[in-house]
Amino acid sequence: MAKSTLSFVCQNCGAAYNRWQGKCESCGEWNTLAEEDTSGSVPVSIRSKRKGRTFALESLAGKSPDAPRLSSGMTELDRVTGGGFVRGSVLLVGGDPGIGKSTLLTQATSLLARAGHRVVYISGEEAVAQVRLRAERLGLSDAPVQLAAETSVEDIVSTLSEGAVPRLIVIDSIQTMWTDTVESAPGTVTQVRASAQALIRFAKKTGAAIILVGHVTKDGQIAGPRVVEHMVDAVMSFEGEGSQQFRILRAVKNRFGPTDEIGVFEMTGLGLREVTNPSELFLSERDLGTPGTAVFAGIEGTRPVLVELQALVAPTSLGTPRRAVVGWDPSRLSMVLAVLEAHCGVKLSGHDVYLNVAGGLRIHEPAADLAAAAALVSSLVNAQLPTDAVYFGEISLSGVVRPVAQTPARLKEAAKLGFQRAVLPESARGDAGGDAGLSLNAVNSLTTLVAEIAARGSRRGESGAQPEKNATPARFRRGEG
Ligand code: TYD
Ligand code: MG
Repeated sequence: MAKSTLSFVCQNCGAAYNRWQGKCESCGEWNTLAEEDTSGSVPVSIRSKRKGRTFALESLAGKSPDAPRLSSGMTELDRVTGGGFVRGSVLLVGGDPGIGKSTLLTQATSLLARAGHRVVYISGEEAVAQVRLRAERLGLSDAPVQLAAETSVEDIVSTLSEGAVPRLIVIDSIQTMWTDTVESAPGTVTQVRASAQALIRFAKKTGAAIILVGHVTKDGQIAGPRVVEHMVDAVMSFEGEGSQQFRILRAVKNRFGPTDEIGVFEMTGLGLREVTNPSELFLSERDLGTPGTAVFAGIEGTRPVLVELQALVAPTSLGTPRRAVVGWDPSRLSMVLAVLEAHCGVKLSGHDVYLNVAGGLRIHEPAADLAAAAALVSSLVNAQLPTDAVYFGEISLSGVVRPVAQTPARLKEAAKLGFQRAVLPESARGDAGGDAGLSLNAVNSLTTLVAEIAARGSRRGESGAQPEKNATPARFRRGEG
């Protein structure tokens, strides 16, 4: 009989302590320690002192009987996985509740099942009837997906070991699974880790691909241990703003494919629709003719994506002005604001600043600096930017506009969508090629751009920009705005 050993396990990082404490020393999180019985966390088979069996060693160049990748039939999903589900791989899909994870996976499994593959959908959260109801709504009831509402990993593994090996197994969700080998409650770190381990072992042994659904905590991490992220082959996150219809599937980690690709979907009354040209979607509801908006020509993976940045700069009534940003890195915004203050004479310390990326997209590229700066200055001086212009370029701390990668792809996409001009780094003009079809406005430093925009408008509010005399036009100066 194993002695019961109680430890306090951090629910965030999995570190174990033998007494309770308020803060986890390993990851620095507060109030994450929970009491768990960890005596059984090592399976009996490993603890026993049996003699190891011998196994055959193989060469790298072996032939697999089946195609190593299984295309899901959904282009956007395949783009993110890197061309389909790899045999024997385990993929974790995370996302907020209600974002559409179950919908996406119901659609993907149905397509595969219709194509003749054995596909199993295990729901630990919803009853069979609920899953059926969703399938009915999606018009997929006729797809031969094998369905069950189960939570015991041992039962699942024994059931799936019978008959032909399934090509794809969906476990919705990993937090509801539990295994006999450990004693903690379902949803605890120890249970989630042990359940994931058992399922990963099954995938590697049989060659079935497994998708684990994972919940996301308030601060955007996949709930439970980060260790699961390390154990699986790929981690995808399914994102979107609650009020928006757009959903973005992003690879966070991928052992078999790229990590910078995104898949774009739209949630409709009949399930998720793939969006093959995201720029059209993100620009479909543009606020033409309003100051404070600029179109950014971005790149997501291999695909150019045009998106509108919206800024609002307004005099503050608070001691400390507000800085709020949705869809972009707040520290990047602080940096752009600091460069505007230090090098372009744009004083923003008396203004609240809001920045929003339209359509619920989250931008990670530094190339968005120039578009953000243009939108901010445009809002401050109340000057509308040309509606047919796109912006891209990274801003350095010295105020110089630096070149970014893939200039031709950005310009081509802008031209395709009917834009006439591009504001881009001076040094990128050479990469642009002669046949871009756009008139190029190459800017060397941020000061030039600020001066150009300021020349178009009048200042909003009273106490605003007080630039250096030679850097910016007269309009900025106190009393003349
Ligand atoms: P769901 O897939 O259950 O989310 P998750 O598994 O990530 O928690 O999706 C739930 C939401 O999606 C719910 O608010 C209803 C909406 N929805 C649609 O708008 N259209 C549809 O066809 C379906 C099936 C769901
Ligand atoms: Mg669900």
